[in-house]
Amino acid sequence: MQQARSAPILKVQDLAIAYETRKGDVQAVRNVSFDIRRGETLGIVGESGCGKSTVAFGIVNFLGRNGRITNGRIVFQGQDLVGRSEEELRRLRGDRIAMVYQDPMQALNPSLRIGEQMAEVLIVHRKMKRKEAEERCIQMLQRVYMPDPANVMRRYPRPAAARGHRHGPAQRPRAPHHGRADDGPGRYRGSGGAGPGGGTAKGL
Ligand SMILES: Nc1ncnc2c1ncn2[C@@H]1O[C@H](COP(=O)(O)OP(=O)(O)O)[C@@H](O)[C@H]1O
Ligand SMILES: [Mg+2]
Repeated sequence: MQQARSAPILKVQDLAIAYETRKGDVQAVRNVSFDIRRGETLGIVGESGCGKSTVAFGIVNFLGRNGRITNGRIVFQGQDLVGRSEEELRRLRGDRIAMVYQDPMQALNPSLRIGEQMAEVLIVHRKMKRKEAEERCIQMLQRVYMPDPANVMRRYPRPAAARGHRHGPAQRPRAPHHGRADDGPGRYRGSGGAGPGGGTAKGL
């Protein structure tokens, strides 16, 4: 006898997202539907500009000022996300659902210690005391085989290439934020809302 399939953790149904521009509305996403169940991974593939990032940002409500969901439903763990208040979504983000950015140098704040940024998520969302949160972070780093996790926690994020090289990428001035489509809707550094610090997504 076939077992009943578990309820999806994330259900996206007939999703449509538009961006308001000076030339009118851009329908970036239309009729997107998918389910993700426990243990499943979904890859979204398509040519540049087809709306992959828009779908992902729509799910975590990071569409920026000019983007909005015009149709459809996003149901996460049985809760409808469309139409929720910013406050309710903030509670979910970084705790139950989070964006993992491709480039850690964009996601982490270079002026805060790695441990501080990791612990912040647990302090904000799980109400842990700093000490407990830091211990948990060390355990998590151990689980991913990070060498010397306690020391990693005390370090500042910097690209590997910058270590010991005076003219590594960390020394170069950062390009100003132009707000291109691929930059995502903005920076959420240190907010404790979008995973460890949040940030911009490159090539999502
Ligand atoms: N902030 C924005 N304002 C206006 N149009 C946007 C914005 N972000 C994305 N778009 C447009 O929406 C479409 C989908 O973009 P995007 O989701 O970034 O695609 P992908 O991630 O698949 O490359 C593109 O036509 C893009 O130009
Ligand atoms: Mg993209």
